[in-house]
Amino acid sequence: MDYRRTYLRDLFNAPPGTQTSAFGWVKTRRDSKGVHFAQLADGSTFVDLQVVIESGALPEDVLRQITTGACVRFDGTIVESPAARQAVELKATVCEVFGPADPAEYPMQKKGASFEFLREIAHFRTRGNTFGGVFRIRNALSYAIHKFFQERGFIWVHTPIITASDAEGAGAMFGVTTLDLMNVPHSESGIDYSFDFFGKPTFLTVSGQLEAEIFALSFTNCYTFGPTFRAENSNTPRHLAEFWMIEPEMAFCDIVGNMNLAEECLKYVIQYVLDNCKVDLEFFNQRIEPTVLETLDHVVASGFERITYTDAIKYLDESGETFEFPVFWGADLQSEHERYLTDRKIGRPVIVTDYPKEIKAFYMRLNDDEKTVRAMDVLAPRIGEIIGGSQREERYDVLLQKIRDSHLSEDAYWWYLDLRKHGSAPHAGFGLGLERLVMYVTGMKNIRDVIPFHRTPGSADF
Ligand code: 4AD
Ligand code: MG
Repeated sequence: MDYRRTYLRDLFNAPPGTQTSAFGWVKTRRDSKGVHFAQLADGSTFVDLQVVIESGALPEDVLRQITTGACVRFDGTIVESPAARQAVELKATVCEVFGPADPAEYPMQKKGASFEFLREIAHFRTRGNTFGGVFRIRNALSYAIHKFFQERGFIWVHTPIITASDAEGAGAMFGVTTLDLMNVPHSESGIDYSFDFFGKPTFLTVSGQLEAEIFALSFTNCYTFGPTFRAENSNTPRHLAEFWMIEPEMAFCDIVGNMNLAEECLKYVIQYVLDNCKVDLEFFNQRIEPTVLETLDHVVASGFERITYTDAIKYLDESGETFEFPVFWGADLQSEHERYLTDRKIGRPVIVTDYPKEIKAFYMRLNDDEKTVRAMDVLAPRIGEIIGGSQREERYDVLLQKIRDSHLSEDAYWWYLDLRKHGSAPHAGFGLGLERLVMYVTGMKNIRDVIPFHRTPGSADF
């Protein structure tokens, strides 16, 4: 056996008469007079291969093991299918069962099982239609993202997962330690980290941005694509404790260039899945969210709206809506506010810029009004924030003051400050949340259902 094999998706184009083997997992089995049918899937496509087994063609003990969930190989001939739903089927004469699955115990039997239930059997849910589609689309989006940046000369930089700095300054980090928690060494001032692996407190990264900035100031344009971690205790359908982020960083670029790149990138990757994942997208449009295809077509065809935070507050104020969280200049935009702006007021993605400095990270460039910073969030209908970015503060004195005002340690950011001392450049970048993008493209409503194995408060199975 060799990895080089014909995927089931390729068999649909094979001419009748082709002798072939088909490997996969049985989705369903049904018996009719004188003939048995098995639907076979191998994850390569949404469509199953229908396998037809005439009575007596296989030994009884083999036939008995062809049940939902079983892993098998069929040998046979591709023939034209009399049924309307597929052009060809496989007439099998040989079957090898690699791994039987007891129908009394296999958990993926029930049709219409809830996504919540399927999360508890995440080691099997990928064999179903919805999750097959989600992960083929997630794969296609990831590929398209690399393709987009590589075609534009961006260097992919692998930023560290273990870090000593809090890039977002929000303090929501998972600690990394080899200290014995039952016997933590103490000094007068608290925990004595000199005994710890790195000799100081370290964490799982919340963002690769600060390290990406080092690369942007050497390679001009770069991007990260990796896992990031946030220990916020937010149990919402849009937050994960471990999620994947793409963070491009560009030297000689301002906030306008940053917005242009964000818009171009989203349109490019969405066009890529429209071109390459048609069958899966049609499934999501039919079964999960009836506006998916229309939305995606609309996004690639129309320009994103661009408004300032101050405009956004004005729209929200004038909306006549009652929001749970109060609206006033200086308040952070909550998900309900973002949804109003995109879903109701504007009806397509909108980029909000120039937020109050108090509600944004220390590294964002201060505007001349000294009240707002050059932040840009891309908000999308149904999802809210999908991208967060900014032009960076490239002026040493201003950055130092912002670090002090944010009560961050100057010492910890010495290297970040150094970049502003030696060859600083105007630069900008953003972070695109991969899972938020997959939600947007598929119409899936819970972020736990677009990552293979979710990490959320209280959940770290598989
Ligand atoms: O807005 P955020 O926090 O920005 C940053 O991390 C910057 N360092 C990005 C940059 O400028 N290079 O996060 C960026 C995006 C959000 O817009 C959202 O799509 C996603 O990351 N995100 C999350 N996705 C899932 N679960 C969470 N807890 C997320 N937090 C942020
Ligand atoms: Mg943000």
